[in-house]
Amino acid sequence: MRSLSAKRRSFQFSHWSFMFAEIAIWSFVVLAVTGAALMVFYDPSMAQVTYDGSYGPLRGLFVSKAFDSTMHLSLEVRGGLFIRQVHHWAALVFVAAVVLQLLRMFLTGAFRRPRTGQWLIWVTLLALGMAAGETGNVLPDDMLSGGSLWLITSVLQSIPVVGTWAMSLLFGPDFPGDRVIPAMYGVHLLTAVVMAALLIARELLVRRHGHSRFIASLSARRSARPMMALATIGMLIILGFGFQIAPIWLYGPAKPTQISAGSVPDWYMGFLDGALRIMPGWELTIGDYTLSLAVLVPTLVIPGVFFTALAAYPMAERFLVSRRGRRDALGRPKTTSRMARETLAQDLLDRPRETPVKTAIAVAGVTFYGLLWAAAANDQIAHQFHLTVEAVTIFFRFAVVIGPVIAFLSTRRICLALQQTDHHVAEHGVETGIITRSPDGGFHERLAPAQQEGREPAITSGR
Ligand code: HEM
Repeated sequence: MRSLSAKRRSFQFSHWSFMFAEIAIWSFVVLAVTGAALMVFYDPSMAQVTYDGSYGPLRGLFVSKAFDSTMHLSLEVRGGLFIRQVHHWAALVFVAAVVLQLLRMFLTGAFRRPRTGQWLIWVTLLALGMAAGETGNVLPDDMLSGGSLWLITSVLQSIPVVGTWAMSLLFGPDFPGDRVIPAMYGVHLLTAVVMAALLIARELLVRRHGHSRFIASLSARRSARPMMALATIGMLIILGFGFQIAPIWLYGPAKPTQISAGSVPDWYMGFLDGALRIMPGWELTIGDYTLSLAVLVPTLVIPGVFFTALAAYPMAERFLVSRRGRRDALGRPKTTSRMARETLAQDLLDRPRETPVKTAIAVAGVTFYGLLWAAAANDQIAHQFHLTVEAVTIFFRFAVVIGPVIAFLSTRRICLALQQTDHHVAEHGVETGIITRSPDGGFHERLAPAQQEGREPAITSGR
């Protein structure tokens, strides 16, 4: 019993989908190490200097110290460009790993008690990761940073009542002024510290509650953590060495009046960009106030609803399930004995097909997200397929409403069909491909009992 609980607390890797959390953790370690190295050379100041570094085309231009120091870091400090590129790639990989980890927890029901705390930590890490990435992108003060600053300005101005006040607090009396980059630097570092604290808290929770598992998962492999650390760090080193990212010398310094064509944000901000592009230019006037719904809805309402829904889902599911009374407070069927339920239910994961409604919600959400993301490329799609940007935009306006509904209905159907297949296999066995001939001359395929193949029948559920 003792050794079993010790095993539950140690890191185990019994299914490939568990690697996302590890990738996120090790990407964050890389972010912290490379970030600390960048801090040595980066100067978060908007004071103007004349650029006289090694890059000829920009020599003689007035640039901020932030831009000048990032140029120096990239082109003159030995290994500087490599560290910058690894930092940027690690940010992209970190957010992707957090998204996949959330998707895994959602699809397998790993957000239920006692792991709801971990779920909330990952949801917060997603929001903070996006904030850290966005503030990080502002820091070099290049043309892309300037675009991000314009977006932040529009979003702040669209907030009812406090928008103008928040705007002058961040930028001061002028745009862009001289305080926004130091402020963004402070937010960047603070966000990173909070994220580190959350990752430590998550680690402690995993140690306390142990790892969840599937019924038919492989036996645990303790050596997985060093392997995942090596793989993640190695992958980021290869990306940093071989794949250019954010070449600020090609973009040039930020200018409040300019934005380069084809500017795109980092991948995780793409869905907001898409939402902005397809939102009709609606305004609402109440008394003397005009609300710009065209900015407010895509940049604040949609992410607000998205993160609130993610955070609230475990509570909402518990509430609905306990009202229906068919399942216990953990959402497990009330079929097994109480003791068996208590030990099994906490650690056992759903197969996505076992909870068709939950799986369908996830696929509908991913479809909505993916369509918004694709809408961020409406100009490119129009260009490549010789269409007008208006036609592509109108297509996406309908697609983001109809697409998730189709995704929901078809996923639910597929899950129910897979459940039926599982029941069929459980009742009749698995096909072996061995044909036998009976004494009366008939041919039959031999079937092996399902359990021999490590397959378990699904628990049918309407959820
Ligand atoms: C953990 C501690 C961290 C430290 C000390 C740190 C520090 C820094 C510094 C000094 C810069 C400016 C240098 C430059 O622009 O090249 C920077 C840029 C940046 N940071 Fe961080 N950072 C940390 C964590 C993060 C995290 C968690 C993310 C996102 C998930 C992130 C994303 C970025 C991005 C996207 C840039 C712009 C990189 C570029 O210039 O291409 N950082 N960071």
